[in-house]
Amino acid sequence: MNILILGSGGREHALAWAVLQNPKCDRLIVAPGNAGIAMIADCADLTITDGEAVVGFAVEAAIDFVIIGPEAPLAAGVADALVAAGIAVFGPSAAAARLEASKAFTKDVCDACGAPTAAWARFTDAQAAHAHVAARGAPIVVKADGLAAGKGVVVAETLQQAQDAIDDMFGGAFGAAGAEVVIEEFMGGEEASFFVLTDGETVLPIGTAQDHKRIGDGDTGPNTGGMGAYSPAPVMTDAVTQAALDRIVRPTVAEMARRGTPYRGVLYVGLMIENGQPRLVEYNARFGDPECQVLMMRLGGQALDLMLACAEGRLADMAVTWADDHALCVVMAAKGYPGDYARGSVIAGLDGLPEDAQHMVFHAGTARAGGEWCANGGRVLTVTARGETLQQARDRAYGMVEAVDWPEGVYRRDIGWRGL
Ligand code: AMP
Ligand code: GLY
Repeated sequence: MNILILGSGGREHALAWAVLQNPKCDRLIVAPGNAGIAMIADCADLTITDGEAVVGFAVEAAIDFVIIGPEAPLAAGVADALVAAGIAVFGPSAAAARLEASKAFTKDVCDACGAPTAAWARFTDAQAAHAHVAARGAPIVVKADGLAAGKGVVVAETLQQAQDAIDDMFGGAFGAAGAEVVIEEFMGGEEASFFVLTDGETVLPIGTAQDHKRIGDGDTGPNTGGMGAYSPAPVMTDAVTQAALDRIVRPTVAEMARRGTPYRGVLYVGLMIENGQPRLVEYNARFGDPECQVLMMRLGGQALDLMLACAEGRLADMAVTWADDHALCVVMAAKGYPGDYARGSVIAGLDGLPEDAQHMVFHAGTARAGGEWCANGGRVLTVTARGETLQQARDRAYGMVEAVDWPEGVYRRDIGWRGL
């Protein structure tokens, strides 16, 4: 089978790596891909948010199955275009991807199906929003309704921060994404990410993870796209997992089907767990990055069978084969990220690193220049390892990180601390 993966990050490198383990894969193309992905698959230049262009390319290249990595093509309806053209696709329709693309939409769905989440209100003008936070007090959470590349959420510890966030959002800091603002009760507890596949009816859990969003050790400094992750998440006990499935995930999937917009694909369920009770923080309509890297390391080649069954409505016949293992990844970023950073610094030591079922370096932002690896992005590498224990996975991952010779790179030294 010929497979096309859309995207260009560490997530897509990990998806490509897993798909290639599966003998069903005859040919793999990743668009646009990156320099690391180009070492294992063909890369193609393609505007991946343009449904017509993606369909045209897929027909031309005799693609049987398309896996959509990031949220932008989902929100742009690329899955809908592929379905209309009769091409199997892993990734929800634009209508179903609203679970990520609109925070107010998700809150409406939660209310309709009784899923526990933070109390909330939506606003289209600043004055009413200000009055609301003044009445509620801090801490309080202010969110731009739409997609804002993970930057549209402010957890305000003071009223002033909340007011500034409201003014920024209505002032256009996030463009159209901030035309509507959602204000939420602050939830305390421990966060975890829960990943399920669903074909619109059957729900199949495929793993849990915890990530580290802040740039600095000890969870300090600005938020990033994610500086490291590990799987499984110890806080996701069987009881918490069952509660999340029964009260949040299955009711949501049923509500989406009832609305005539069934959700098909991976649902990334962001949870806050307090006193053993999970509440929904957010949904994403895709795999997390870097959470995908640890999940793929644990799932290996069966990931393709699972994604295909999901796309074809056959999940009821599927089961996940679990090894009793752990995976952990450390993101290496360019100095300055998530702010301004330089490109082009040389990364040495990568070619001597092991690449096997226990060790992989997934590339997010590298380039080849004069036979050397160079940094070409903010998050540059995801160094990923598996082990029988979290400690072993961590030791292996940091062993590789230390072998990378890249003075202009930064990484957190405490990935996994909460789990250990
Ligand atoms: P989101 O994009 O909605 O996941 O928000 C980003 C991050 O903000 C989450 O991962 C949480 O750490 C935090 N957050 C969002 N909503 C809340 C909330 N209601 N209470 C506490 N923290 C929150
Ligand atoms: N690592 C968080 C995300 O992908 O949204």
